[in-house]
Amino acid sequence: MADKRRFDLFADLIATRFPDARRVFDVAGGMGRLNEALVARGRSCLTFDRRHKHLPVEYALRDFTLDEPCAADVVVGLHADGATRVIIEYSGRHGVPFAVVPCCSDNSMPYNPWMRHLEGLAQSLGLSTELVTLPMEGRARVLLGRRAL
Ligand SMILES: C[S@@+](CC[C@H](N)C(=O)[O-])C[C@H]1O[C@@H](n2cnc3c(N)ncnc32)[C@H](O)[C@@H]1O
Repeated sequence: MADKRRFDLFADLIATRFPDARRVFDVAGGMGRLNEALVARGRSCLTFDRRHKHLPVEYALRDFTLDEPCAADVVVGLHADGATRVIIEYSGRHGVPFAVVPCCSDNSMPYNPWMRHLEGLAQSLGLSTELVTLPMEGRARVLLGRRAL
């Protein structure tokens, strides 16, 4: 069972690390709880997922792809499963920073190799990376990336 504190903890991290980011793309946001937490912190947020049943938040009922027009200051994903890789590739293509809390891989890799793989992917796209751990149970490591100077 994933830790229910994850939404507030990740929203706090996003608000702290990207203080100037007003508009957030929340990819694979499920019910929209991270969206709620970000709006409570003064951000505007659009959640992408395919869940018909979700909270009354700004919601794009579709998969997130690399072709999504970039109208965000940061793109994030919390336990975003198969979309995690897409978020990093999107960041590389569009030049917006990203923050992901990886969980399951999209290629059967165990957790630690998956984390290293995602970090290497970001760096191969010219992004500088940083790892942070949220104070919660379960998959709690955050990979942050932004265009290297
Ligand atoms: C483990 S759930 C996490 C949901 C939520 N972020 C949370 O922490 O509770 C993974 C979600 O990823 C969504 N997903 C996977 N690939 C996606 C994509 N390309 N675009 C949007 N959502 C995607 C699934 O529909 C599912 O809701």
